This record gives sequence, C-alpha cells and structure tokens, in this order.
Amino acid sequence: MGLGEVLVTRKIPEAGLELIRASCAVRLWEEDRPMPKERLLELASGVEGIVCLLSDPMGAEVMAAAGDGLKVIATMAVGYDNIDLAEAGRRGIVVGNTPGVLTEATADLTWALILSLGRRIIPGDRLVRSGQWTGWGPTQLVGADFAGQTIGIVGLGRIGRAVGRRARGFGMEVIYHNRRRLPESEEAEIGARHAGMEELIAKSDFISLHCPLNPESFHLIGAEHLARMKPSAYLINVARGPVVDEAALVEALRAGRIAGAALDVYEHEPRLTPGLMELDNVVLAPHLGSASVETRNRMAMMTAQNLLAGLKGELPPWCVNPEARHS
Ligand code: DGY
Repeated sequence: MGLGEVLVTRKIPEAGLELIRASCAVRLWEEDRPMPKERLLELASGVEGIVCLLSDPMGAEVMAAAGDGLKVIATMAVGYDNIDLAEAGRRGIVVGNTPGVLTEATADLTWALILSLGRRIIPGDRLVRSGQWTGWGPTQLVGADFAGQTIGIVGLGRIGRAVGRRARGFGMEVIYHNRRRLPESEEAEIGARHAGMEELIAKSDFISLHCPLNPESFHLIGAEHLARMKPSAYLINVARGPVVDEAALVEALRAGRIAGAALDVYEHEPRLTPGLMELDNVVLAPHLGSASVETRNRMAMMTAQNLLAGLKGELPPWCVNPEARHS
C-alpha cells in the first residue's frame, strides 16, 4: 500500500486505525494485552513505521529487528520513556507522541483519585456492598478536608497546571516544584507558588506527581521524602510508576508514616509491588489517566497523523526528536 508496511502493537480507536489503513499495510496485534517480546521482534521485521503504546519497550533490539527501513515510531501517549531516543536518533527515526490532548482528562482523573482517597469512597463502597452498613455514623469513615489545605504539585507542566487550576476551585493553596521556576504571569494564572522540594514535601497535605520519568526523577519519592511528609498527608502518582520507590511507599503506608496513597501508575506495571494490594489506605487505578472516549479518539488520530507524516519523510506534527531527521 502507498506508504508501506507498518506495525500497530495493539488495537487503537477505530478512527486512527482507519486513517492508517487508508494508506498503509497494517500488521496488527489483535489481542487485548501487550505483545510478548518475541512476537514484537518478529512482527517488527521489515516495517517502515511502528505505532506503539507506553507498555511496549522500543529499544535498540526492536529498531534493529525492523531494520534500516524504519522511519517513524508513533506512540499513543504523551510519555515516551519507553522509547530509546538516542538509538532512534542514531538511526534517523523520528518519534511522535500525543501532547496536550490528554491534559484535562488526566487532571480530572487525578482529582477523582484525590477525592476518593481523601473521602474514603472505596472503603465506603465496600462497606455498603458488604451488607454490614448499619446507617449514618458520626465517626464513620471520616476523611480529609480540602479547603484551606495545601497541594504540592511536582512537575507543573500542562497536566500539573490543570490539576492546580482545579485545586483553586477547592479552595486549596497550591505550591509546586519544577527544576525551573515558571514566569510569574504563569504562576499567577493558577495562583501557584514555587517551592523547593524539601518545603513541598514538608508542607503539603496532598502531593501530586506530574513529572516525566527520566534518570533524575527515578525514585524521586523514596524513604527519605516519605519520612518527611506530614503523617496526615497523601501521595498521588499519575505520572510514571518508577518516580516512586514503591517498596518504600508500602513500608511508609504500613507504618502509618503517611495517611494514604492513590496510584494510577506502578513501578513494575502492570505488576503490583508486594504488600500494596493488602493496604486499606490506598486507591489503585489501572492507568486510567487519559481514558475518556474523546481523549482516546484524539490520541489515536494524532498517533496516526504522526505515523503518516514520518512515513512520508516529513516531521511528525508532534515530534519529540526533530533533530533525528538530519542525523
Ligand atoms: C500517557 O499518555 O503518557 C499516559 O500515561 C497514558 O495516556
């Protein structure tokens, strides 16, 4: 077909798939689970483009399996820590992602987690379903307040800002930590104040993680930071699992050193760190950040557009390594 043969590692929303099918021959992994590595290497052989998900490791091995004809990798995600950009650059492979489109949906999900964690919705649901609920009780499942509390946002990028804007609606004080402080006008827009990591950890009642995963953010939240959080504070991770040292988190939760945690992403996704599942003071979501119908459709369309542009030798409209084209 016109633009050559491509691998799509999982069914993506139909609109995106149709767009790809209109000009490419598609090798599609039809099963609703990540493709095993051997199969991935086999199906990648000889393709010119790959559509992958955040769960597919796109390293040197896959790129070598595809061969010298591989022009583009389009991931249906904003995060691209699964892709070896250095290797892609060496091979002149352009990489596209889906920024912006999932900001609001991910911020909504963050708040769904914060509210259900703080207000104990999951234990409440369990109680009602158990048939053991005897009616309203003055001390039953009492939880956190939000108005007047401080939320500390680690990583005030698009999603962090959207979470911050919502926090203002709840009457909260917003502090944030970024490597580089934002211009004052941008801080003022959401009423956020820049803080050092130590201050954020010590002062926040809710700490919400929104930074990308990279060598600097790996295990950013570990035993030391957890020990300095308020015992009444909550940790929320919708960024990437390995930003948190989950073994240390389990320890801290077990010992009651912090009040609770809500996770949408996991250090060893989709496996859970031992001990996490048994804890009552956690909310565990299956990586749902961007999971709204409209968001996923738009992500699929952007992914298809990135793929097709790369196949034509053009820069994908949302390209994370434009320099690769000339390397
Ligand atoms: C992303 O896009 O990186 C999210 O984790 C999933 O939508």
